[in-house]
Amino acid sequence: MKLLREMVEAARLSASARNMQPLRYLLFNNQEDCAMIFPTLAWAGYLKDWRGPEDGERPGAYIVQLGDLELSNDWWCDDGIAAQSMLLTAVEQGFGGCIVGSVQREKLRDILNIPDQYKIIQVLALGKPAEEVVIDQMVEGDIKYWRDEEEVHHVPKRGLDELIISF
Ligand SMILES: Cc1cc2nc3c(=O)[nH]c(=O)nc-3n(C[C@H](O)[C@H](O)[C@H](O)COP(=O)(O)O)c2cc1C
Repeated sequence: MKLLREMVEAARLSASARNMQPLRYLLFNNQEDCAMIFPTLAWAGYLKDWRGPEDGERPGAYIVQLGDLELSNDWWCDDGIAAQSMLLTAVEQGFGGCIVGSVQREKLRDILNIPDQYKIIQVLALGKPAEEVVIDQMVEGDIKYWRDEEEVHHVPKRGLDELIISF
């Protein structure tokens, strides 16, 4: 729980549009809660033969990021900035994480008794990294990440000269 709180501390200190700070967080690190949250999330959509992490390799903690609709219904890009701040904090301490945007929100709302005042934005899944990830140069615009025979996870990234453009 200490690390989860440190992660939210990093989010707390992050930039916020209009300095509204409308985001809120639910923290979970016990087995029972994690087991309830896991089936509401979709994993690695491009890996058609992979149904997500196996039992024993599943995330040991989650942060559910919410927007307080009584403060705002437009958080610009606060959610992404905060998510990145939180993940950097986790990685710095030897953990890994993934932003999960593909969430069965109404199911998760019911399970966690989240009042309508809060919009479920996304979920951060956290744990000790079990797999090797390598970054590849993207070939012919193929954005799909993939796994090789050794179960190494390959993530194609566009080249720097494709991102920096001029007219
Ligand atoms: C806003 C956002 C939503 C995402 N949603 C999901 C998701 O629902 N399920 C999942 O497995 N990964 C999800 N991801 C992770 C991306 O698939 C991942 O960032 C991408 O493949 C690049 O890999 P990398 O983060 O290792 O560089 C999401 C990432 C972002 C930024």
